[in-house]
Amino acid sequence: MKALVLAGGTGSRLRPFTHTGTKQLLPIANKPVLFYGLEAIAAAGIHDVGLIVGEYGEDIRRAVGDGASFGLRITYVRQERPLGLAHAVLVAREFLADDDFLVYLGDNYLQDGIAEFVRRAADEPAAARLLVTPVPDPTAFGVAEVDGAGLVVRVEEKPPCPRGDLALIGVYAFTPALHEAVRAIRPSARGELEITTAIQWLIDHGLDVRAENTTSVWRDTGSVDDMLEVNRHVLDGLTGRLDGKVDQDSAVVGRVSLAEGAVVRGSRIVGPVIIGPGSVISNAVIGPYTSIGANCRVRDSSIEASVLLDGADVEHAGRIERSFIGRDAVVAAPPFPYAHRLVLGDHSKVHLNP
Ligand code: G1P
Repeated sequence: MKALVLAGGTGSRLRPFTHTGTKQLLPIANKPVLFYGLEAIAAAGIHDVGLIVGEYGEDIRRAVGDGASFGLRITYVRQERPLGLAHAVLVAREFLADDDFLVYLGDNYLQDGIAEFVRRAADEPAAARLLVTPVPDPTAFGVAEVDGAGLVVRVEEKPPCPRGDLALIGVYAFTPALHEAVRAIRPSARGELEITTAIQWLIDHGLDVRAENTTSVWRDTGSVDDMLEVNRHVLDGLTGRLDGKVDQDSAVVGRVSLAEGAVVRGSRIVGPVIIGPGSVISNAVIGPYTSIGANCRVRDSSIEASVLLDGADVEHAGRIERSFIGRDAVVAAPPFPYAHRLVLGDHSKVHLNP
């Protein structure tokens, strides 16, 4: 079995971050969200991966390389425009050849991985096998209607009046039967070739489409709040490790991962917290549930439940919480006793006045 990993979308709900980079490289606990998916695919025993990339393909290529560090062989497939998930399958036709394949959305976070799902897809073949989970608002997803035996009788993309609450979570296993479906379908109202429409085509042509319910923690990391929540979740499983320097005037409490080359001075770090290489924390309180990337500077500030991307610089910012601060962004303000909540794009500069 091969895997097709989609990392070509525009990530409009993650603006401004997606104006200057791709959402699949945004970090969760200092590791790009895409890497969690690639690791899960390798752990499921799949080695041949087609990575669909768009505008930021070069950034992804730089980060992922040939896949050897994940135990994968990666073939890059360029999707000129994000014209839908079924369109991605169309452009990957040559890579996929006549093999069975997994489709995995690159901004998905699935705590329990996909090994069981992949094993079942191999043992109990079906034209399509969909991983689904109940969600409170199915109108935001593809929705599967499933009979008592796990057979899917209908799928609909973001239905205004959903017939059930089982969302397609963005992990699918297909046989080559899907190729005929993606060639046959027409674009949806949003102008995309929907994988959901192709799956419905399979059902309409009498082919077996099966759904499998997952109880794993899952997030489509499409928004800042989702990113912060997954960050929190991943940090809950963090192993503490102090490779950087902590001076005598500092306190480190709980599980803290401090990379080599990071420095903590006169500060209190309350885990779970991860701090990347080259970052300098002085006279600050960090944590809990905070990820600080590489080469950040935090001075005279308190940061909780937040993410700082590489090179962010925060000074005299008072108390910051539930914030997502972009690469090389600068936050500077006189000390002030209330919390700021910031969603800042890469390279942005904010000067807060009381
Ligand atoms: C896509 C799929 C949808 C699926 C969702 C999972 O939606 O079209 O069926 O439920 O991913 O995240 P999109 O993120 O493109 O809106």
